[in-house]
Amino acid sequence: MGKKILVTGGAGYIGSHTAVELQNAGYEVVIVDNLSNSNEAVIDGITRITGIRPAFEHLDCNDREGMHKVFEKYPGIEGVIHFAASKAVGESVQKPLLYYRNNLVSLMNILELMQEFGVKGIVFSSSCTVYGQPDVLPVDESAPIKPALSPYGNTKQICEEIVRDTIHSGAAYRAILLRYFNPIGAHPTAEIGELPLGVPQNLIPYLTQTAIGIRKELSVFGNDYNTPDGSCIRDYINVVDLAKAHVVAMNRMLNALSDEAVEVFNLGTGRGVSVLELINSFERATGVAVPHKIVGRRKGDIEQVWANPDRANNVLGWTAEESLDDTLASAWRWQEKLRERGIM
Ligand code: UFG
Repeated sequence: MGKKILVTGGAGYIGSHTAVELQNAGYEVVIVDNLSNSNEAVIDGITRITGIRPAFEHLDCNDREGMHKVFEKYPGIEGVIHFAASKAVGESVQKPLLYYRNNLVSLMNILELMQEFGVKGIVFSSSCTVYGQPDVLPVDESAPIKPALSPYGNTKQICEEIVRDTIHSGAAYRAILLRYFNPIGAHPTAEIGELPLGVPQNLIPYLTQTAIGIRKELSVFGNDYNTPDGSCIRDYINVVDLAKAHVVAMNRMLNALSDEAVEVFNLGTGRGVSVLELINSFERATGVAVPHKIVGRRKGDIEQVWANPDRANNVLGWTAEESLDDTLASAWRWQEKLRERGIM
């Protein structure tokens, strides 16, 4: 049996793709998920792709006693990848306490239990949101942390500090903080992908739902930004590439390949793409038209941000490989699969 890794939020979008890559790399995966934004069929998808059914516990990470039992039930957990968190920016403004409780308490539970059970390392899901609108582009890890624009963003900043403070206090484990740019796409098998509940807030699910006819048209939020075509620029990173970075990070901690107890890496492609360019790429990659119209700016949107991924490339030894067109084609195949299965 391979080394045992606890994946919280492992039934979610990035978590499920990471569970697949961990199993492909020979790790034994234990998933904890409260299914608040996913469902158990995702575990079947992981199983179909890898031929291995990961252990699954339907549980909220805020349940400290329940989590204690998980560590007892699966002795010898060597690493944790902590995805479980609430992630809707707008909702966090409406329900700040829910966000602070879910995102902070769950992390604190995990960190305490890691100490008690002698776990060697944690990968924490952070976000490029910690940079706000960077002064210098592309943005590297030394850029200043800007005041958060939402409670959600603030939880990512505070969680990074909680991890750092815990390790600096002498906790006997390592941590890698991964700052994701914009993860998109789905597994090439279309067995797992992004499954937004209700009306999608993020660009790609809204775009693919429009392309398949669930939504009438995609609203492009603003074409009067200070960018070449006036629409916002992001660094869209393939979710399988992103998942693979977690495996590399876990290997790095468990094999003590670094002198630093806490490390931080940007996970992006290094390429900035505007909303309008993205729509064009999707139409080119799939041959499917995306009805869209320009509307006003969305409140709180960053104008432009993309990664300098040099540290991840050179130090971590990971590079984003998939092309944007292939990634968009995978998002489309996933949308078609949802239609075939009668899910949406
Ligand atoms: N957009 C549209 N129309 C839509 C949805 C999005 O034009 O219907 C645009 C947005 O204005 C933005 C881009 O598409 O320019 C990407 O928007 P997303 O909502 O997909 O992603 P964001 O970059 O806004 O959000 C992401 C993560 C958050 C994180 C945030 C930090 O989803 O978790 O980056 O900036 F907090």
